[in-house]
Amino acid sequence: MKPSPASERSLRLAPDGVSVLILDQTLLPHEVKTVRLRTLEQAAHAIRTMQVRGSNLIGVTAAYGMALALRADASNSGLESAYSVLIETRPTAVNLRWALDLMRDFLRPMAASRRVDAAYAKAAALLEEDVATNRAIGDHGLALFRELLAKRPKGEPLRVLTHCNAGRIATLDWGTATAPIYRAQQEGLPIHVWVSETRPRNQGAALTAWELGGRGVPHTLIADNAAGHLMQHGLVDVVIVGADRVTAAGDVANKIGTYLKALAAREHKIPFYVAFVGGSVDWNLRDGVREIPIEQRSAREVTHITGVNSAGKRVEVRLTPEGTPARNDGFDVTPAKLITGLITERGVCRASVAGLARLYGRLDRADRGSGGTARATRR
Ligand code: MRU
Repeated sequence: MKPSPASERSLRLAPDGVSVLILDQTLLPHEVKTVRLRTLEQAAHAIRTMQVRGSNLIGVTAAYGMALALRADASNSGLESAYSVLIETRPTAVNLRWALDLMRDFLRPMAASRRVDAAYAKAAALLEEDVATNRAIGDHGLALFRELLAKRPKGEPLRVLTHCNAGRIATLDWGTATAPIYRAQQEGLPIHVWVSETRPRNQGAALTAWELGGRGVPHTLIADNAAGHLMQHGLVDVVIVGADRVTAAGDVANKIGTYLKALAAREHKIPFYVAFVGGSVDWNLRDGVREIPIEQRSAREVTHITGVNSAGKRVEVRLTPEGTPARNDGFDVTPAKLITGLITERGVCRASVAGLARLYGRLDRADRGSGGTARATRR
């Protein structure tokens, strides 16, 4: 089956039961190409070069990368070296470490002869879990969307703004930020999505627009810099984004530009929600601005841009004077105080230690250290 924005999974096991099929997201939306991963190196390359991207999909790809690695070497050292290669592929999305830790903890106690089959089974379970958790986010977000829609004039759509791509192709299905959008569409609620382009890699313009268009969700692309203006003019009812790492206190790292949208939303009293699965929470961290590692990417992504020309040929062009220095931080951190609520597979909570502890029954490092329980009044 040719993959399309409407097809079901962004990663799947090939019919041979061994190799893994992914969609090369660096080519979208101009070319829809499936790539086959056969080795650890190919899986690591796919994550590193962003053929696969988005926190959830990175995690599941790494899990399959470990299964592929064990086919070549299922010894303890094979397991450890696969872990070391994969953990280095991208620094910010903590789902990568979450998935790799789960895989390693599960496989380490086993005899080497059992590890390959067990690794494939565990990776498949993580894949299915991601589909189910994203769907649950969709249900919780849908309830919020219904409430917000009730405040709109009858028949007018709910105007949702999203940034980057926390969509189906950033996960295994549904997406995080997009799950409530797709559920709303299924339920026949009127909805319109403002898609911010997400310079410099343009995940909004290239990926979210492709995905929503393929699913028939009404949407309009905007320049990143237009979001504040639209909010100021009363054209946005709610902002919803995904997350790459959430601290135990509810600070959120997400694609660069998320923070500015949260600031503008706060100024205009527009609800700002972050949707993510439990594997995106880093329970060891509290202060996201100080503690979350931010990926530094190539200056070329800022100084150059890639698209197709009128002949349909893929071309890269330079935007800047030759040699212009550029800085390219891949993510930023939105402090919990700017976030209206966190939408997770376990429900919606405040962006706070107490809010996350209530949903997940876990405490962050500081609370564990003092032996206390999460205090509801603290951030
Ligand atoms: O650099 P990317 O494209 O991997 O960044 C993706 C994002 O920032 C997403 O919003 C985030 O990973 C959530 S995807 C479920």
